[in-house]
Amino acid sequence: MNQDELKKTVADAAIEVIAEQLTKDSIVGVGTGSTADFFIDALKEIKHKFDGAVASSIGSADRLRKHGIPVYELNVVNHIVVYVDGADESTRQLQLIKGGGGALTREKIVAEVSAGFVCIVDRTKLVDNLGAFPLPIEVIPMARSHVAREIVKLGGEPEFRDGFRTDNGNQILDVHQLTIEDPASLEGTINNIVGVVANGLFARRPADLLLVAGDDGITEYRHN
Ligand code: A5P
Repeated sequence: MNQDELKKTVADAAIEVIAEQLTKDSIVGVGTGSTADFFIDALKEIKHKFDGAVASSIGSADRLRKHGIPVYELNVVNHIVVYVDGADESTRQLQLIKGGGGALTREKIVAEVSAGFVCIVDRTKLVDNLGAFPLPIEVIPMARSHVAREIVKLGGEPEFRDGFRTDNGNQILDVHQLTIEDPASLEGTINNIVGVVANGLFARRPADLLLVAGDDGITEYRHN
């Protein structure tokens, strides 16, 4: 199977997992990226089973609406039963790097609010240690150079994602060469740099269920 076929397979597997949790009143949290797009397309087939969705990006909201799925603002929603999203890297401990598409802050917010988080990846995203994929950090534009200097002190090599703005109007630094021994601790350290909006480490709120698509089918990982 090629990578797109794997992404579609794992998106379909997520539909099976969440379908049994949904009721007519349920709100589904929906992620961003090419794997999440396959999930959105598959979600259309069960749209009669739930009320609507909260999206982690403008792009995902548009795609949901195109399929006739109502999209709610997070502020008017009390409960999100489950959030489904891809990742750039995941460990078997369900800690992630996300933000390759630049939607990390909204993704982190929706993941935080959701009762469950199902992460869907193809086998190329499964790693022993996080950090080969450059860690995205969303920054307030005027603080970009300050944050970059602080990141260098932590041993990282920040690269400005030139010409890119997030849905929140901010900028992204992609950080190379970080040694990530303790993802939750580093997530907190980076969040404490003034000017950082959010970083792409999802370790303090990891996934609850990881579905990995490989040639032999789907492998599930949960917390021990
Ligand atoms: C979007 O900002 C990201 O967090 C995506 O979830 C991540 O980059 C995975 O994207 P793909 O499914 O396109 O690989």
